[in-house]
This record gives sequence, structure tokens and C-alpha cells, in this order.
Amino acid sequence: MRVRSTASMRSRARTRSLRAMSLTIRPIEPRDLHDIRAELHAHWHSHEIWSLGRCHQADALPGCVAEVNGAFAGCVTLNLDSGAWQCEVITLSCRGVAPGIGSALLAAAEDFARAHGCRRIYLTTTNDNTHAIRFYQRRGWHFAALHKGIVDRVRALKPDLPLLGFDGIQIRDEIEFERWLDSGARATQ
Ligand SMILES: CC(C)(COP(=O)(O)OP(=O)(O)OC[C@H]1O[C@@H](n2cnc3c(N)ncnc32)[C@H](O)[C@@H]1OP(=O)(O)O)[C@@H](O)C(=O)NCCC(=O)NCCS
Repeated sequence: MRVRSTASMRSRARTRSLRAMSLTIRPIEPRDLHDIRAELHAHWHSHEIWSLGRCHQADALPGCVAEVNGAFAGCVTLNLDSGAWQCEVITLSCRGVAPGIGSALLAAAEDFARAHGCRRIYLTTTNDNTHAIRFYQRRGWHFAALHKGIVDRVRALKPDLPLLGFDGIQIRDEIEFERWLDSGARATQ
């Protein structure tokens, strides 16, 4: 008897679900503003996103939108550092309407960085976000740094930043993840 591995069954299920759902990833356009603001407010309660002590107007950044059967299903926003040698993922989120959207948006962010000639792409997530910490490592990203206490310092200036995050964990630190990109640029947009 031929026993199919769990991994192969999972991969078949992935292919089936991707075929059924018609996922599109495309660059952010002005018409997406309303959906992007709603998405940012749903996950971060603001479109002003703090990372590494810098505040980003995330609704004005470039990035990509995911659509499932034509409906908004998530987005990634990106900031090219000065000189464009590296690119930061400022936000990544999806609505969980189907599996694989977060992975597709992260791959699109890497393609965006390559297309702009970046050598490195990086992001931070807060210490409470254990799902994201797992998610990035599963997708080949590496720990780059621990920014201990950085959220506490920003909160001293912005007291409206929430104190408790996922699972009631106190939000204190940012964990930086990175991925070094191949030198050959692979433009997708
Ligand atoms: C972090 C976040 C974007 C991850 O998205 P996600 O929807 O969990 O990501 P995916 O669906 O791509 O992957 C999750 C699982 O789905 C499954 N999956 C991935 N691609 C798939 C596909 N094409 N078909 C079927 N299943 C798939 C996998 O089992 C995967 O698990 P794995 O990590 O063990 O491989 C999402 O949880 C989110 O929006 N969180 C809130 C905002 C946030 O915290 N963002 C990160 C901080 S910046």
C-alpha cells in the first residue's frame, strides 16, 4: 500500500484551495486607500506605524494588495531606506479568507525589494506576536536583532500604544527579521 505523506496531502490541499480562490497580488493603487486604512486600523488601530523608533504613514507607502475573487484580502506596505539598498516591510496583514495570502504578500514584498535593487529586506515584529515570529522563520527569514524595550520608549511619547498584545503578553520589544536577497534583480512590476 502506498501511504501518502502528510506534507504531500497538505501540498495537494494547497493547490486545490489556491485554484478555487483565485488569488491576485498587485501593486497598491490610489483606489485602495479606503481598504488599506481599514486594514491598518483593524490590526494596528492607526495608519501611523512605529518601527525602530520611526513613525511611518503606512497608508501613503508603496506595496501590494491581495485580492481573492476580486475582493480586498490583505496588503503589505513597504519603505525603501535612503539609497534603496534595503527595504523595510512596515506592515503585512491579511484577512484569513484563505490560506496562503500572507505568504504570497511576503513573496511580493521580496520581489518589490529585488526589483528596486535592494540587497536586504527586513522588518520588525513585536515580542507578543508569536504567530508572526513563527511565520517569518518558516519562510526563511532570520533573526537579525532584538530591540529591547523600544516599544516602552515609544509608548512614553505615545501613551495610546497598547500595553498588552496577543495572548495578554506585554508589548515591550521589537524583534528584527531579515532576508538577504540574490544579486540578480527579478522584477515583477
Ligand atoms: C502574519 C500573517 C500575515 C500571516 O498570514 P497567514 O495567513 O497566517 O499566512 P499563510 O496563510 O500564508 O501561511 C500560514 C499557513 O497557511 C498554510 N498555507 C500557506 N500557503 C498555503 C496555500 N497556498 N494553500 C493552503 N495553505 C497554505 C500553511 O500551512 C501555513 O503554515 P506554515 O507556516 O506552517 O507553512 C497573518 O497572520 C496576519 O495578518 N496577522 C495579523 C497582522 C500581523 O501580525 N502581521 C505581522 C506583523 S508585521
